[in-house]
Amino acid sequence: MKIILAPMDGLTDVYARELLTGIGGYDLCVTEFLRVTDTLFPTRVFHRRFPELKNNLNQPGFTKSGTPVFLQLLGSDHSAMADNAAKAIELGAIGIDLNFGCPSKTVNKSDGGASLLKYPERINQIVSAVRCSVPTNIPVTAKMRLGFDDQSLAHENAIAIQNGGADWVTIHARTKKDGYRPPAYWDALAPISDFLEIPVIANGEIWNVDDYFKCKDHSACDSVMLGRGAMVTPDLALQIKKTLNNETIAALSWQEVVQILENLYWLMSNNPKLKERYIAPRLKLWVKWLMPTYTQAEEIFTQLKLINNAHQAIELIKRSQ
Ligand SMILES: Cc1cc2nc3c(=O)[nH]c(=O)nc-3n(C[C@H](O)[C@H](O)[C@H](O)COP(=O)(O)O)c2cc1C
Repeated sequence: MKIILAPMDGLTDVYARELLTGIGGYDLCVTEFLRVTDTLFPTRVFHRRFPELKNNLNQPGFTKSGTPVFLQLLGSDHSAMADNAAKAIELGAIGIDLNFGCPSKTVNKSDGGASLLKYPERINQIVSAVRCSVPTNIPVTAKMRLGFDDQSLAHENAIAIQNGGADWVTIHARTKKDGYRPPAYWDALAPISDFLEIPVIANGEIWNVDDYFKCKDHSACDSVMLGRGAMVTPDLALQIKKTLNNETIAALSWQEVVQILENLYWLMSNNPKLKERYIAPRLKLWVKWLMPTYTQAEEIFTQLKLINNAHQAIELIKRSQ
């Protein structure tokens, strides 16, 4: 049973990956997508999207707490995808995930992400090309939605991924057309996971421990990927793991969450390459995500959203304890 931290562009960056895996419960993270066109990226592009490759020289490709991180590639040019995957592995990446689920109009217009779900044979070509370009001991995985407009090609796409040589497939239990609107169609995953030989990881709408168990019952998948729920409840993965072990766990207090936000502030402030103006918005964004779980987050947000100075923002957050 694995819990994977979802790739979320603009949310699960290197800092969130470090902090969330530091809390515990996660077996793996996936980077935000790196969009491949027809060129081979220079090393600095890989390092920007995946700083764990260079920051953690003892264990490149792992977060500071030792959780493995896979690089996610998004694109439709199979040979460019293969070349970039091979380069990432040369740079120390320990796994490659392929994105067949991004609903963004810009990405879909340029023939990437979820738009490929209309063409299972192209998905198969991309997975096969990437599989061939990286050593056999390196996992290649894929993340898909149930379909583009409807679920009619869900099986074909999952089979295309399996036949391309992927080690597992994560399925976000919605179509591109469904966007992020609840519900997630967990039931639709059960026949796919039953049919495939590779593991299926369920994803979508797991906000608390109860949702995990409901998703598991409906999807017949033990392993899950947590997305927005991880931002809203930073110890969600740990809560699920402890519950599975029949252990009790007190949810993180607001004081502990403030400590996490303070760590976020220090991690960002200590990066000389990070512009000061990036820090306050990042703190505000996470506090906003925390609002459904913590009333204190809700109480400070009106004031916090007006602050642009990072130091002032963290001081306000600290005073809320
Ligand atoms: C802001 C945001 C950015 C996302 N970026 C990515 C991405 O880079 N790659 C990807 O495969 N999925 C991306 N996703 C989709 C998530 O990984 C996940 O599939 C989706 O949020 C459903 O899971 P959830 O209901 O647990 O949030 C993103 C989702 C959000 C909300």
